[in-house]
Amino acid sequence: MDTGLLEGVLAGIPLPVVVIGADDRIVTANPAGEAILGPGQIGRHHGIALRQPAMQSAIEAALRNGTAGQARHVILGPSHEVTYKVTVTPIPVGGKPAALCAFQDITEQELITRFRRDFVANVSHELRTPLTALLGFIETLKGAAKDDPAARDRFLSIMEREAGRMNRLVRDLLSLSKVEAEERQRPATRGNIAALIQSAMTTLRPVAEQAGVALEITGSEGAPEIAADADQIVQLFQNLIENAVKYAAGGKVVTVAIHPPEAGSMLRIDVVDRGEGIAAHHLPRLTERFYRVDSHRSREMGGTGLGLAIVKHIVNRHRGKLTISSESGRGSCFSVWLPLG
Ligand SMILES: Nc1ncnc2c1ncn2[C@@H]1O[C@H](COP(=O)(O)OP(=O)(O)OP(=O)(O)O)[C@@H](O)[C@H]1O
Ligand SMILES: [Mg+2]
Repeated sequence: MDTGLLEGVLAGIPLPVVVIGADDRIVTANPAGEAILGPGQIGRHHGIALRQPAMQSAIEAALRNGTAGQARHVILGPSHEVTYKVTVTPIPVGGKPAALCAFQDITEQELITRFRRDFVANVSHELRTPLTALLGFIETLKGAAKDDPAARDRFLSIMEREAGRMNRLVRDLLSLSKVEAEERQRPATRGNIAALIQSAMTTLRPVAEQAGVALEITGSEGAPEIAADADQIVQLFQNLIENAVKYAAGGKVVTVAIHPPEAGSMLRIDVVDRGEGIAAHHLPRLTERFYRVDSHRSREMGGTGLGLAIVKHIVNRHRGKLTISSESGRGSCFSVWLPLG
């Protein structure tokens, strides 16, 4: 193939493609390929722009032995690393051997794989802890504590707590996967936002009373009807209010404030506590699955770190957004924005 024809063909290919000649110089590249090489690399030795060892040996193999191969090539993009799977194929250009390198961006694919692996590791870890405790106590009840009613009662209470933790974890995982599966479907029903929040509050009132926290709601008069999956919106506010009660009990009052909707904007509902607050560097990661500021404390309180991940998915499904602000020593405010109409 002559170089002119080659350039014409490459220009029509959306993937980045770079061709290297027998003299180890870059013969040509399509615009996407040039973007990977950087400016002024055509005609120069490939070792400058593509100097990673895996790339170098794949190019060598294609040029010297005529063998096709693959290599992983990582470049530093403007905001993050981009990983390419590069297929290197020997082709003749102007009667001489050349290497055609086609770049496929696999950054996202690798992220998803890693995400899945982490997720499975996290779930296994969270399940293993209570399971190990349960097995240990069963062993003790069969042996050492067999004839000790006081110990038996104590162990049974601990076992109940651990089994409850596993039960909650499985329940949260199921609800997370359900919400995720439905994320692309718009909610088909409508509901009054104040009524839905009241329903979440009713469920949590006993927990709040036990923690000595008062729950209050403002702005419920004239609160609008919105497109809402009722069960999910109730769950969303339950998760937020439960957190406010659990982690900010010192604040004594948790307020849910429905703001009067302004024309053309979204409806905003704040869940405000007056607890110790959350340090700023945690805020961007709070909605990640299993992310906890203080995992020991959260676990003590029976938390698994899935509550806010569920909140985020519910908000997304309703085409809304979640913003979090917090001030050390003064408390936190979780704002849920939902579209009107
Ligand atoms: N109002 C709050 N004040 C202080 N910290 C909070 C507040 N809400 C959430 N957090 C922190 O964010 C973390 C993540 O919350 P999330 O609801 O996702 O998980 P969890 O409460 O630990 O467990 P789960 O909700 O699954 O039972 C919590 O562990 C806690 O550290
Ligand atoms: Mg929670």
